[in-house]
Amino acid sequence: AHKVLIDSYGRRIDYLRLSVTDRCDLRCNYCLPKGFKGFEEPDHWLTFDEIERVVGAFTRLGVRRVRLTGGEPLLRRDLPILAGKLSALPGLQDLSLSTNATQMARQALALKAAGITRLNVSLDSLQGERLASIAGRDVLADVLAGLDAAAAAGFAPVKINMVVQAGVNDDEIDAIVAYCMERGFILRLIELMPVGDTGRTAQYLDLQAVVANQAQRLGLIASATELGGGPARYWRSQDGRFTLGAITPISQHFCASCNRVRLSVDGTLYLCLGQDDKLALRPLLRAGIDDAGLEAAIVGAIGRKPERHEFREQPDKIIRFMSATGG
Ligand code: GTP
Ligand code: 5AD
Ligand code: SF4
Repeated sequence: AHKVLIDSYGRRIDYLRLSVTDRCDLRCNYCLPKGFKGFEEPDHWLTFDEIERVVGAFTRLGVRRVRLTGGEPLLRRDLPILAGKLSALPGLQDLSLSTNATQMARQALALKAAGITRLNVSLDSLQGERLASIAGRDVLADVLAGLDAAAAAGFAPVKINMVVQAGVNDDEIDAIVAYCMERGFILRLIELMPVGDTGRTAQYLDLQAVVANQAQRLGLIASATELGGGPARYWRSQDGRFTLGAITPISQHFCASCNRVRLSVDGTLYLCLGQDDKLALRPLLRAGIDDAGLEAAIVGAIGRKPERHEFREQPDKIIRFMSATGG
């Protein structure tokens, strides 16, 4: 019989988001503030062997999906080697990656060969200057080249993540829809979550009406097709060639069906994106805990997973920067 990890609200936890670095080459205004100095010391980074041990424990406990995140995961040296080790773990059915794609042109083939099948890429604007004002640098050409390389390498599907900010890029949704339609990319519109510096620098927009308008404009119909393991809801065009997704943690949260936890680069297991509940695994690993002890520690932590985030109730409470846990 397969093991399953169930939390105290009866939710099955089968998805681990694994942050392989907290560093990033960009400074998106809703994620990582300019001048930020609080990065983890390299001594604290889990080694590939330590990561493999932890993910091995999770897969034995019933985790089936792992998503590599950051910071920017492609900044972790030799990422394809780690991906290769993880994709070979028995029980793992889905290895995916969330990236800003600035380095993707160089790494797409190696990452695909290492067993990563699904790719989610951030793209908030198709205007160079505007992207620079959101992300800190004009990297549009690199990102678009990275996306072309990803498509050529055969990642299927490629999903585009657009965090919609009122008065910043909400006038560009039609243009990004057109870009995605042309290339066969799925577009997900994402509501801004109040983490890190967002309160000061970003403008939340409720996406319910925005998505309804797009669905009407494009003749999309609600779709129950599974396109990953995440919280997005999807709509498809009648010819099946375009899919729009919406991730609405604020206007319509999805915590009741939460299936995931997060491991940060320093080996902290975060039980909810919007809460501080956690378990430090690095000290256990470095004290020589055995596999049974590691699994028991993880099961104990899952039992403390909170019911939901409180972004609405406590929008000013800074839990941590998104760069620490990769969204
Ligand atoms: P798949 O569905 O497997 O493709 O992945 P995903 O959409 O969950 O992953 P991705 O890294 O692309 O995240 C997209 C957006 O969803 C980001 O803004 C994440 O912060 C957000 N997100 C992912 N999981 C959660 C979650 O458990 N809670 C909340 N509040 N937001 C999440
Ligand atoms: N709110 C919503 N989404 C965010 N992301 C990063 N920070 C935030 C935030 N504050 C998204 C990125 C990336 C994904 C992994 O998380 O745009 O696509
Ligand atoms: Fe799960 Fe917490 Fe995200 Fe809600 S906010 S879906 S409980 S991780």
